[in-house]
Amino acid sequence: MIPINEPLLKGNEKKYLMECIETGWISSEGPFVQQFEEIFSARVARNHGIAVSNGTAALDTAVAALDIGPGDEVILPDLTIISCIGQIVRAGGKPVLVDTDPTTWNMNVSQIAAKITPRTRAIMAVHIYGLPVDMDPVLDMAEQNGVKVIEDAAEMHGQSYKGQPCGSLGDISTFSFYPNKHITTGEGGMIVTDDDHLAAECRSLRNLCFQSEKRFVHKRLGWNFRMSNLQAAVGLAQLERLDEFVARKRRMGRRYTELFAGIPGIQLPLAQTEYAENIYWVYGVVLKDEVPFDGEEVMRRLHAKGIGTRPFFWPMHEQPVFRESGLFAGETYPVSERLARRGFYVPSGLALTNSQMEQVAEALSQVMR
Ligand SMILES: Cc1ncc(COP(=O)(O)O)c(C=O)c1O
Repeated sequence: MIPINEPLLKGNEKKYLMECIETGWISSEGPFVQQFEEIFSARVARNHGIAVSNGTAALDTAVAALDIGPGDEVILPDLTIISCIGQIVRAGGKPVLVDTDPTTWNMNVSQIAAKITPRTRAIMAVHIYGLPVDMDPVLDMAEQNGVKVIEDAAEMHGQSYKGQPCGSLGDISTFSFYPNKHITTGEGGMIVTDDDHLAAECRSLRNLCFQSEKRFVHKRLGWNFRMSNLQAAVGLAQLERLDEFVARKRRMGRRYTELFAGIPGIQLPLAQTEYAENIYWVYGVVLKDEVPFDGEEVMRRLHAKGIGTRPFFWPMHEQPVFRESGLFAGETYPVSERLARRGFYVPSGLALTNSQMEQVAEALSQVMR
């Protein structure tokens, strides 16, 4: 089986982990956590980095730090991971969805303006699969309407928008370090911001809102979302190789595009837009309308040939968890509905070899016949 993802852990990971073991610093109090926060946030040109236990925790913390509460509206893409919406709903806020751009697969920013109301508190821009959201219109609309921007850069390590690092574009921005990301800590995440108040809120929320004067007396409910020194040790070693990893992913993306070029009936990722060059977090494929079967069928056929795949995200408005409460009743988002049913991605991990990519292409070409 060619796995959908396999990370590369051949740098200083072992050395830094041994340092944790030998010094006994394994908890979140260890020195690698702060180092990782400082180096990572500097890399994305931010003043503060707050390491957390995963990318979902980073989003939950960011939404809570912005005090999104009952009745507050947050505009976000319909086609994304459930992590984006969880804390908005739990806090009693109202998620407001926009459809997807059919070529970049990111949120359709031209639909945002019509969704802004006096209750809008934030726009959550989520960069997916390798290209960033077109951020200038998002930032302009946010400024004109006095709303905050939450930037979910979970998949965008090393990517930039018009030369500015992804992660530097929101009032508050988040990352994930799950092993399928360009750099990993096993499980992990990071919140980055320039805002001193938001940074302090996030630090407090990630650490159960313990108080410095009276530790076990709490003015607010937080979470234990701390990152351990062991995870930060791996993260630091991975960060040393980020440029190499991004270059490798770009080469892999270009190679898949060459290999898939002759296969009929498939839409491939854009190599670039006017504002960014694809970093191919994953290599997505969308079946064109003339193909008489759907993505699930292709994934089943590829699995039978030993090729791992994953479907695209499933639209938020079609999630059973929200149907019961009537959230999104009657709403339709045709582009995300189509992409969810006809889109999937092929093995995209950093450890993938050229010959494995050739095998994937051969298998895809056979199953599309
Ligand atoms: C866009 C996006 N946001 C958030 C997350 C959540 O990150 P994690 O899996 O670390 O909780 C992911 C995970 O893949 C993601 O792709």
